[in-house]
Amino acid sequence: MGPMRKFVGGLLLLLASSVTISVLLAISSLSPNCTQADFYKVQDRQSSWGPHRLAIIVPFRDRFEELLQFAPHIHDFLNKQKIKHTIYVINQVDKLRFNRASLINVGHILSRKDCDYLAMHDVDLLPLNPKLNYSYPENGPFHVASPEYHPKYHYSTFVGGILLLTKEQFELVNGLSNRYWGWGLEDDEFFARMKEAKFNISRPQNINSGVHNTFRHLHDRTVRRRDTARLFNQKEATRKRDRLTGLADVQYELISTQHITIDQAPVILHNVKLICNYSLTPWCEHKPGNTKKSL
Ligand SMILES: *[C@@H]1O[C@H](CO)[C@@H](O)[C@H](O)[C@H]1NC(C)=O
Ligand SMILES: *[C@@H]1O[C@H](CO)[C@@H](O)[C@H](O)[C@H]1NC(C)=O
Ligand SMILES: *[C@@H]1O[C@H](CO)[C@@H](O)[C@H](O)[C@H]1NC(C)=O
Repeated sequence: MGPMRKFVGGLLLLLASSVTISVLLAISSLSPNCTQADFYKVQDRQSSWGPHRLAIIVPFRDRFEELLQFAPHIHDFLNKQKIKHTIYVINQVDKLRFNRASLINVGHILSRKDCDYLAMHDVDLLPLNPKLNYSYPENGPFHVASPEYHPKYHYSTFVGGILLLTKEQFELVNGLSNRYWGWGLEDDEFFARMKEAKFNISRPQNINSGVHNTFRHLHDRTVRRRDTARLFNQKEATRKRDRLTGLADVQYELISTQHITIDQAPVILHNVKLICNYSLTPWCEHKPGNTKKSL
């Protein structure tokens, strides 16, 4: 091989590798925008599907494994029904106890300019049966989740709830109470609000396949314990109908917002710090001296 051919060969090699590098650079410089672009492309594709848009509001903390399954599943499920939707994950990033109800209030505030109805949706409950209908609930709230009759209250309680309401219905009852830090009972209080407003709450009809073919539960109680402690006078206070707190007074700080896609599913992730009113709800925080059941 003469020195000239060696030179040309080296030049070609150099050229080839610099082309490769610039292609790689082009790809990597594209990718930061890719997620956002895909996000809006998916939203556009839905634009001919009727006048309504559903906000899927997911109160959330530390459940990314479940979210990886939930988001693509609910996105496909709703696309098959041609339900225009946006998934909002409201991620509680403060050090307070989990407050599902307040997160839903915040989710409504952050979605109401783009959506005209909402689903309160737990991340660990996947709808399976295509007959579960997520369309606009114009005749009153629609309780999608399989109900369990609660004889004491004469209405059904949620078992990991899915409830659809229009924006107006949600606002009429002032959203959910902000008193429920830790797990439980906020759904009962919300049912009391809806009963007082004389809403007609409907449930899925003609679904005979049973709970297990209707929904899939991802939650495993043995792996992830729920915070069911009752601190201070929390037990008594949260059994009462709360006429004070709700959508109008929920206090929070929006820390950041990220647009992500999980498989093809676009998700808006809002990182939110809730703010506790300590005189009203001293049980919002686990502290060493805080473990007494009541005052
Ligand atoms: C859901 O209900 C609406 C009307 O309430 C109906 O038009 C639509 O076809 C239903 N969708 C499914 C998948 O059953
Ligand atoms: C509930 O349904 C009843 C009977 O269909 C109707 O008269 C009433 O106006 C409805 N209430 C609301 C709040 O939509
Ligand atoms: C906390 O709750 C009390 C009692 O309802 C109320 O008077 C006070 O204004 C609230 N504080 C804040 C900062 O919202």
